[in-house]
Amino acid sequence: MLIIFGASGDLTARKLIPAIYNLYKGSHLPENFVVLGVSRSNMDSEEFRSKVVLESEFLKDKIAKEDPEFIQKFADKLFYEDLGTAYDTSYEKLAKRINELDKDYKTGGNLIFYLSTPPSLYETIAKNLHDQGLTQENGGWKRIIVEKPFGYDLKSAKELNQGLHTYFHEEQVYRIDHYLGKETVQNLLVTRFSNSIFEPLWNRRYIHHIEITNAETVGVEQRGGYYDKSGAFRDMFQSHLLQIVSLIVMEPPISADPEEIRDEKVKALKSIRIMKDEETIIKNTLRGQYVSSTINGKKVKGYREETGVNPESTTETFAAIKFFVDNWRWKDVPFYVRTGKAMPTKVTEIVIHFKTPHHEVFKSQDVYRKDNKLIIRIQPDEGILLKFGVKVPGLGFHVEQANMDFYYSDLDSAQVMDAYERLLLDAMQGDTTLYARADEVEAAWRFVDPILNCWENHPAVNTYGYAAGTWGPRNSDDLIEDSFGWRNPGDLLTDESGFCVLC
Ligand code: BG6
Repeated sequence: MLIIFGASGDLTARKLIPAIYNLYKGSHLPENFVVLGVSRSNMDSEEFRSKVVLESEFLKDKIAKEDPEFIQKFADKLFYEDLGTAYDTSYEKLAKRINELDKDYKTGGNLIFYLSTPPSLYETIAKNLHDQGLTQENGGWKRIIVEKPFGYDLKSAKELNQGLHTYFHEEQVYRIDHYLGKETVQNLLVTRFSNSIFEPLWNRRYIHHIEITNAETVGVEQRGGYYDKSGAFRDMFQSHLLQIVSLIVMEPPISADPEEIRDEKVKALKSIRIMKDEETIIKNTLRGQYVSSTINGKKVKGYREETGVNPESTTETFAAIKFFVDNWRWKDVPFYVRTGKAMPTKVTEIVIHFKTPHHEVFKSQDVYRKDNKLIIRIQPDEGILLKFGVKVPGLGFHVEQANMDFYYSDLDSAQVMDAYERLLLDAMQGDTTLYARADEVEAAWRFVDPILNCWENHPAVNTYGYAAGTWGPRNSDDLIEDSFGWRNPGDLLTDESGFCVLC
């Protein structure tokens, strides 16, 4: 049985129920599964079913093509329980409902609690579940999935871990990072560890630098209130992007066992050099915020004009960073990572820039400034591209860059599962590989904390403006001093730069 706390919220309708529906449609779920939505809104099971299935805008296309009987059969597996305004009452009633459903549907006491509530409620919910005997594994397994943000800083993440560990064992805790559910992120492991052609090159001898870009076209949309307290570095870098970094940096695990993989990821995160002094942080990081602009003739709001955002906010909607990894494999290889909202295109990609050959044979050509690149496109157009030099037919030795590419969409069998589908199924099967462990989350915060402290407290740290629809503040190019610059995929939509110092 899946029990979703925060069931009247956006995530349940937008992601969780569609994922459950797809799993059910794909025959991945047993016939006797049940979903119990729990939240503060006053509604009954019928109203819940209408909201998240029968009248859901996120399922309407599927419903239109499906047999109504099948849809109804699915909807009938959904139930709802109102849990009072503070999530701290009526747990007895909730426990009774869970036990009844468990008995009626013969779910064998196997329970997953999915916490899609503000993190401040995680511990209260865990304690109450524990007090009702709902965390004991003597009759069926009990698991708890918690959404990000996992903590606000290292201190709060540790407190959260301690709080959850009071009521659940670590093996029962599934910390979700939906990037790990993405097919292409998982494929990083396969690309690295199932091909002998990449591994010999995957180190400081052959790699010049690594670049990761995560860009979104959207601004903060309806989440201004949350985002203004978080910012891009907490929202994207601490979680999703450091997860990607750990998969690039990690050593080969001895097996595909979840703990072996997670041990290597923790080691990777711990080897990222922590920037201790403010001078280093100021030199190697940059934050920006989108200002209003005109894109394709249409006026677009600046961040400070968004609903829920402080009109004098200095919160970053763009962050860029250069850092190093202190271990044998990566010594002196710079990593450049940037993330931003209101950028020209939606893209997440990793670019592995290889070194130029040691000895320059074709000196007169400018080929050596065009390094070999392995581009791993996480989204959209999921795939991998290798750029390499080829001889231009004709006289002399003119070299040009050619592409060798692979796109997931070219695979006949390709049916890329939504991240939430994969992650929910893994949690049901007890596979923790794609979930973050406590020490992983803390290692990520350990790196991020000093940077956030410096940004928040040091008077010399500026937030630079960039016009919505551009690739971030102009001076983010200065971070890559190797004269390569960032690879900017996609078209620029606006000529405005919007470059300014906001604070
Ligand atoms: C979420 C962030 O975790 O990831 C959002 O809170 C962001 O701000 C989203 O928009 C991006 O996810 P995706 O899968 O669209 O890249």
